[in-house]
Amino acid sequence: MAYELIIVETEGRVGRITLNRPKALNALNSDLINEINAALDAFEADRAIGAVVITGSEKSFAAGADIKQMANLQYPDAYLDDFITSWDRIARFRKPIVAAVAGFALGGGCEMAMMCDFIIAADNAQFGQPEIKLGVMPGAGGTQRLTKAIGKAKAMDLCLTGRMMGAEEAERSGLVARVVPLAELLPTAMKAAADIAGFSLPAAMMTKEAVNRAFETTLAEGLRFERRIFHSMFATADQKEGMNAFAEKRKAEFTHR
Ligand code: CAA
Repeated sequence: MAYELIIVETEGRVGRITLNRPKALNALNSDLINEINAALDAFEADRAIGAVVITGSEKSFAAGADIKQMANLQYPDAYLDDFITSWDRIARFRKPIVAAVAGFALGGGCEMAMMCDFIIAADNAQFGQPEIKLGVMPGAGGTQRLTKAIGKAKAMDLCLTGRMMGAEEAERSGLVARVVPLAELLPTAMKAAADIAGFSLPAAMMTKEAVNRAFETTLAEGLRFERRIFHSMFATADQKEGMNAFAEKRKAEFTHR
């Protein structure tokens, strides 16, 4: 597929998607979402890809859903076309995916970052759910994922006032895994993704699946789920290689099987 609104690259076992709609601060219109979904489909199908980084520009990760495209949307079309549901592709991506966020991550941009497995933020990052200012509310998971990430008090504050939260506050609140200087954002995110992609792919994917289960189920069920997957890992060649390499004091060479 030829991409016009994103740049798709690979570096070793890491795939990178760069949102590239600078004139609209990477506002997310349906063409941009379709391109992201196509790139994710390709990365998911490619056994040579072990992790993905999604990023924007230095000024804006993504300034939200495209307000101009949405402005005249009518309820029947929103319902019949299941508006926003196609955005879930990122949340359903099975391999590890890191959001590298600089500048604005607002509305759907913040929601998109939260669909990733973790966020590394530049020190100029600004997160927010300003939909209230437009007469609506978050529609791509903001009321749910933000609340699970940072708790009721701050989620209510952000969703009801529409204020922006800087990178420091976002890290303190648990939304962001790490904050780095802007110039180090991409190298840091790519290094994290390369480290992950260097581990056993089945182990990384199963780890992701198990952590995500914590958001869906009770502790007892989650622990049972974890134990079952953990047991299954003893069927992989990578488990034998990882543990034998440790005993033999050498670096493991995973075959991702
Ligand atoms: N949709 C469409 N266009 C957008 C946009 C958006 N979300 N955000 C920015 N743009 C466009 C602007 O219209 C402007 O285009 P023109 O030059 O053609 O006028 C261009 O990007 C640059 O924007 P600004 O001139 O506004 O830049 P700024 O630096 O002064 O302000 C900003 C930056 C604070 C991010 C401001 O653009 C802004 O508030 N954007 C809207 C943020 C927002 O409300 N996001 C939520 C959208 S709703 C949503 O996401 C629903 C959901 O949950 C799925």
